[in-house]
Amino acid sequence: MCIEDLIELAGGASNIYRVLLPEGNVSFAVRDTDVVRALPSEVVLEKVLDEWHLTCSRDETVTEDALFRLGREIEAHQRAQLTDLAQPVSCHYRPSWHIAPPRGLINDPNGFIFHNGQYHLFYQWSPIGCAHTDKYWVHMLSDDLVNWKWDDVALTPSDWFDSHGVYSGHAVSLDNELMVFYTGNVRLGEERHRQTMQCAAISTDGGQLHKIGPLIRELPPGVTEHTRDPKIIRRNGKWIMFLGTQTTAMQGRLAAYHSEDLHHWQFDNLYGHELGDFGYMWECPDIFALNQQYCFVFAPQGIKSESEFNTVPHQNRIAQVSFNDQDELSISKLQVLDYGFDFYAPQSMETQDGRRVMCGWMGLPDELKHPTCRSGWIHQLTALRELELVDGRIVQRPLQELASLRGELREIQLDNGSTDLATKTFELFVDMEWGSRLRLFEDEHYYVEIYLDPIKHRLLLDRSNTQIEEGDTVREVELSSGNVSLQILADNSSLEIFINHGEAVMTARVFTPESATRLSVKDTAVNVQVYELQAPLAPYRS
Ligand code: FRU
Repeated sequence: MCIEDLIELAGGASNIYRVLLPEGNVSFAVRDTDVVRALPSEVVLEKVLDEWHLTCSRDETVTEDALFRLGREIEAHQRAQLTDLAQPVSCHYRPSWHIAPPRGLINDPNGFIFHNGQYHLFYQWSPIGCAHTDKYWVHMLSDDLVNWKWDDVALTPSDWFDSHGVYSGHAVSLDNELMVFYTGNVRLGEERHRQTMQCAAISTDGGQLHKIGPLIRELPPGVTEHTRDPKIIRRNGKWIMFLGTQTTAMQGRLAAYHSEDLHHWQFDNLYGHELGDFGYMWECPDIFALNQQYCFVFAPQGIKSESEFNTVPHQNRIAQVSFNDQDELSISKLQVLDYGFDFYAPQSMETQDGRRVMCGWMGLPDELKHPTCRSGWIHQLTALRELELVDGRIVQRPLQELASLRGELREIQLDNGSTDLATKTFELFVDMEWGSRLRLFEDEHYYVEIYLDPIKHRLLLDRSNTQIEEGDTVREVELSSGNVSLQILADNSSLEIFINHGEAVMTARVFTPESATRLSVKDTAVNVQVYELQAPLAPYRS
């Protein structure tokens, strides 16, 4: 059966919303079975889970070029559906200066890069509902890393190699070209058998990306289809691609490939054996140098935290990496990047003036029940933070440019008392003593509490008295002694707590009513400095 005839039988390209290539066959998922024509015996229409698939054996007319053309029609249809979905829903939990999806679900930041005079940041987006369904990439642009504007939906899950999601990846800026690398996620058959390929897309003018299809189709030996999230670096005159992966023995590892031209890739090695059993999968690798020291950031899944309060198996870590003469790497000195509740799958980039700036997903893979879902959206990205390596330790501070959002400074003295800040969007500085408590986002029923436990010398962040519907409620971090200084970024339903000038950070989604704007302290007297933060450009389609 030639491809044109098959499209015709399916009721035309406009009735096809997915193309799949299961072993030796071609399948189209069709919208409306009523417009499917009378089928010859070699073509089958069958229900696969909740989709109708028209399948026949693949002949020589079903070329990748022909499928690519069909992909463009599917993409045009997907884009047309997005017009309304790109308008933001209103909800009092929405952030005023963080990036959140207009509606639907946001997860990882992607392709974060400075290219052609602008900062580019993409993100994973499921436009429909608050679930992880077929992912799109949204493209945001900024001149200053603070004001972000929605540029467009950059990539849609339109093709046979990414039909179930344009998954995460990074970008490379080369001359005038922006090249993004991502994992094409495909699910086949009733068992939803996973198939992953590493794909790319190119923009020659900084605008629309054009897919160039899969560049790595085969898996490296000894790993499962859980192989994804390409990160590319340039080292010793060649390109190296890192992928997060899972071995067939169910251990998380890092796969490395190299290339001369960014298009043809050769597998080199799996790394990370020195960590032994450290999770069943490593997602979202990022590798970059801080003061000439390479660092490796990743999201191991299936690990246990040292804290009894942290029951989430999906975590974040930063490690140091050294390369030998053959460019083989070894990983050491693991540190927790963020001790809060919601920090996952971060990406970083180098600013024009050489700072390493990181953005994370303020959310977690299994967390799907937030009060925001009733308004049709879930999750957001974190504030941007700057990373430095000081005496071998990672230090993280809020992006300097965020200071441009500050309004007037308010100095407040509190002695076992409270004050109404009349806003949930602020930056706050306070020095606290051991044994004292600070409550934020407070009303008569709800609050978030920070407690400095003098016995165990740890800071406890407790959101059990909030409207949280799912997830852990307490996080802790052990701190060095002396007073504890806090810089807190608040944005309606999030807190990012930078402790002791970047010694540790805690990121948290915290839901309390809109009117819960009080701040109080217990067992201490403190001077608090507060800036209300002004909203930058709204990052939605205008
Ligand atoms: C991490 C992750 C990535 C994957 C993406 C899919 O949150 O699972 O490994 O590429 O999300 O949205």
